[in-house]
Amino acid sequence: MRPVEARVAVLVSGTGTNLQALLDDPAVGPSVDLVVSDRPGAFALQRAEDRGVPTRVLEPEPGGSRAAYDLKLLEILRAEAIGFVLNAGFMRILGPEVLRPYPLRWLNIHPSLLPAFPGMHAERQALDWGVRVTGVTVHFVDEEVDHGPIVLQEPVLVLPGDDVDSLHRRVQEVEHRLYPRAARLLVEGRLKVEGRHVHILEGET
Ligand code: GRF
Repeated sequence: MRPVEARVAVLVSGTGTNLQALLDDPAVGPSVDLVVSDRPGAFALQRAEDRGVPTRVLEPEPGGSRAAYDLKLLEILRAEAIGFVLNAGFMRILGPEVLRPYPLRWLNIHPSLLPAFPGMHAERQALDWGVRVTGVTVHFVDEEVDHGPIVLQEPVLVLPGDDVDSLHRRVQEVEHRLYPRAARLLVEGRLKVEGRHVHILEGET
């Protein structure tokens, strides 16, 4: 049986194409033991159910605090003995209540080359700024938005005539390759972090 530390949860809010890429990866897919969404209608939930992966919906309560939400999320993760967490299009900001119990065990994927264009609508921001190159970043989650140490990055060229949709499609092709690879490295214990620097152990870059 897989060690408890290798149990993975994926947090989603939307369509879940990155979740799908993680589920389809032969090394990562079998480790995904839980999918949590903050939105009941998220298509990502369907993708998980189609694979027989247990799902939970944790909606924010009207007027509820962020900390209260995070503590409930922590309860869910602990009840399932989750060892690693992957944000895949999860649209909430998380705080110390849930992050501190998972130091360097929590990744996010962001559709730009951080630290450029953090936050929402990264592709729109890139187009508005007029950059020639944007890309994808997988990074550890810390208590600041789109900020933790960078695990993997890959550039995507901005082409003449690109709009948000065309750029997003090419960004997502890269995401679907990069995130399973980063997740594998995490779960296999092959990431060594020194300050902001992430070293990849044993060959693979
Ligand atoms: C991705 O572009 C990811 O970088 C961002 O949210 C999007 C989620 O897409 N954080 P999907 O739901 O995985 O298709």
